[in-house]
Amino acid sequence: MSKPKVYATRHIPEAGLDIIREVADLEVWDQFTPPPYEVIKEKSAGCEGILSLLTDRVDGELMDACPKLRVIANYAVGFDNIDIEAATKRGILVTNTPEVLTETTADFAFTLLMAVARRVEEGIRYVEAGKWVTWGPELLMGRDIHHATLGLVGLGRIGAGMAKRAKGFSMRVLYYDAVRRRDLESLLDLEYADLDTVLAEADFVSLHVPLLPSTHHLMNADRFKQMKKTAVLINTSRGPVVDTEALREALENGEIMAAGLDVTEPEPLPADHPLVRMDNCLVVPHIASASVQTRTRMATLAAENLVAGLLGKEPPTPVNAEVLPKDA
Ligand code: GLV
Ligand code: GLV
Repeated sequence: MSKPKVYATRHIPEAGLDIIREVADLEVWDQFTPPPYEVIKEKSAGCEGILSLLTDRVDGELMDACPKLRVIANYAVGFDNIDIEAATKRGILVTNTPEVLTETTADFAFTLLMAVARRVEEGIRYVEAGKWVTWGPELLMGRDIHHATLGLVGLGRIGAGMAKRAKGFSMRVLYYDAVRRRDLESLLDLEYADLDTVLAEADFVSLHVPLLPSTHHLMNADRFKQMKKTAVLINTSRGPVVDTEALREALENGEIMAAGLDVTEPEPLPADHPLVRMDNCLVVPHIASASVQTRTRMATLAAENLVAGLLGKEPPTPVNAEVLPKDA
């Protein structure tokens, strides 16, 4: 029997590709930038599996171009790039990579929070520009992190990871989520509040919601006006959760103090974009889960999911488990 065909839209850590090669005939897009939509469609046409990235749109049209397709393994926890309903309708399994990146992503969200609060990027630019001539009593004063109030918008796994870190810094932690988590409230000493209150009281607002129609541009001009003028926004979720233009205005007009963005809309942001140029906005290229250990574990998990899907077995982390055979 010939091996099933799999198309991977980018090179991922080798440990993952090795797992796929054991059972499948694997083709990997070999460039640094993503394959165009039409290329994915063409390359996947005879495939039973696709290993996709968050940069790849996988919709019903693409699925229809791949009549043998049985599994789409996304190399990410977020899966807003995939039309899940279209996949489910066609009986195609979709999987993601939750859990394995939670702590690493929370580490990074906290890194951004600290870097922005204490103006690390501005400090680097200052020294590089040759401006450092003396110790200054009022030079680059930031905001305290310890004992400040962290407002979490979204208390999933990564949001909860952020809360744990904040408690190590003696922060008060408020959260808003569509689902109230009383278990975590007592475990981590968190306070639940509505979004208005979280935004009004937080010194740091950190976004941890998935991108859904209900969270698209959740942070808009009105929301920034609700925040403290001294507040900092951190986004490690998805770019479109924030209205970029409204954020630019809020930062320019001093409605909030600063922002740290791992994700943006559009993504990537061009180097001459106002947010990239602003002193009070730190932008990094969507790297929150990028540790060697975690990216490797994401690769093996995505591969395990893909292989299970090809073999008709239950995958470790399905998104639409309802397409699995009942006895799997
Ligand atoms: C990264 O943003 C992911 O969803 O894994
Ligand atoms: C993602 O894994 C989350 O639940 O935050």
